[in-house]
Amino acid sequence: MNKETLTWVGKWTFILAAAGSAVGLGNIWGFPYKAGTNGGGAFVLIYLGCILIIGLPIMISEIMLGKRYRGSPVSTMKDAATESASSSNWQAIGWGGLIAGVVILSFYSVLAGICLNYIFISLGLEGEIDSIAKFQQVTSSPLQLLLWHTIFILITAWIIAAGVISGIERMVKLLMPMLFILMIIMVINAFINGNFSQAFSFLFSPDFSAVTANTYLSAMGQAFFSLSLGMGAIMCYGAYMSPDQEIYESSAIVAGLDTLIAMLAGLAIFPIIFAYGVEPNSGPGLVFISLLSIFADLPFGNIIGGLFFLLLSIAALSSSISLLEPSVAYFAEKNILSRPIASFMLAGIAWFIGLGSLLSFNVWSEYTFIGSRNFLDSMDLLANQFLLPLGGLFVAIFAGWKLNPSIAKAELGGSEFVFRLWQFFIRFISPVLVFGIFIFQLI
Ligand code: PFF
Repeated sequence: MNKETLTWVGKWTFILAAAGSAVGLGNIWGFPYKAGTNGGGAFVLIYLGCILIIGLPIMISEIMLGKRYRGSPVSTMKDAATESASSSNWQAIGWGGLIAGVVILSFYSVLAGICLNYIFISLGLEGEIDSIAKFQQVTSSPLQLLLWHTIFILITAWIIAAGVISGIERMVKLLMPMLFILMIIMVINAFINGNFSQAFSFLFSPDFSAVTANTYLSAMGQAFFSLSLGMGAIMCYGAYMSPDQEIYESSAIVAGLDTLIAMLAGLAIFPIIFAYGVEPNSGPGLVFISLLSIFADLPFGNIIGGLFFLLLSIAALSSSISLLEPSVAYFAEKNILSRPIASFMLAGIAWFIGLGSLLSFNVWSEYTFIGSRNFLDSMDLLANQFLLPLGGLFVAIFAGWKLNPSIAKAELGGSEFVFRLWQFFIRFISPVLVFGIFIFQLI
């Protein structure tokens, strides 16, 4: 396979693929519950700030590096370092990315499996339901979780095995527009059946009294996770970008779509939560527990609920493929393994690590790993608040300080002013803020 000639067809395919990676459980499941547990508006504001001044400059850098060097994150970083006469140790960013991808996929698939299961649970709703008991029933059975985790990861591996052009491209062209339409239907439903004004002020009027150091770290981690940054996923997709595509514009559209979907998810969920007098800070179960009881109550709730969890599963699938792609791209480009074998083997590793997350709902629920967190929460913490921000920090340092500026300038194009602006942010703002937020958390 000649990686030089393999490109997305048309400008929108890259944008859809990158937006497909970015929009996922992080937006629809993670963002609302994190906003809910961190007091609403202030978290949303800090999150938006992180997207704009940390995330966007790093996204531009990842796409630029991928587009120029056209390889897996490992070879992209190695070639980039060589061309700028820097140490080949910078390829460690790529290795860190491959590992982070497999670690995230391991628990992502367990959660996405629950979403798949909930499509059928919602469709089968009849009258009143004890949604806490239902969630406990679903998660207390390792076998049931295992079944859906296995189905989800097999679909992911199958798409990646088919290759970027025929697998990812065909899927996202179908999935992304479907996702957007379903989201709009959910917001209209919330507008009609929910308490829209209370939700709006909860999400958009900040109360800084609830903000702690951890709010910043959590908002920053959420921004990295949601934009798929810090592990080479977007870099990998950038490798298939056509040479004449605009990077600034594409990055802004992807970050904008990701933010829009997170906000729409908030507006689809909170009006209903408030209308039914449910607390917004119920944590990771917000979508599964609070919403299910609400769907049970709504007219045509089983259909709306089924659609909602279908939407969540679709969003998860277009993200999970980008978690697997960097490591598969590495094995395929080195001709170590064929693409299909690499896909199923790496998915198998993620599947196996995922067993720990799956068991943390039941048999292992008492075991703690990092601090007082169970296995799933520890993996989530490791990825969101450590691996991704650290990966992003090093990408920023490399792109800002190590990469020859003339290379960056040639790749990015555009006006001198925009280039200077990006350079200022990637040198002084993004890395300093990521580092600062890490330190702020420690003291
Ligand atoms: N951005 C995805 C989400 O919000 O669900 C998750 C994700 C995908 C994170 C790909 C990182 C990544 F590389």
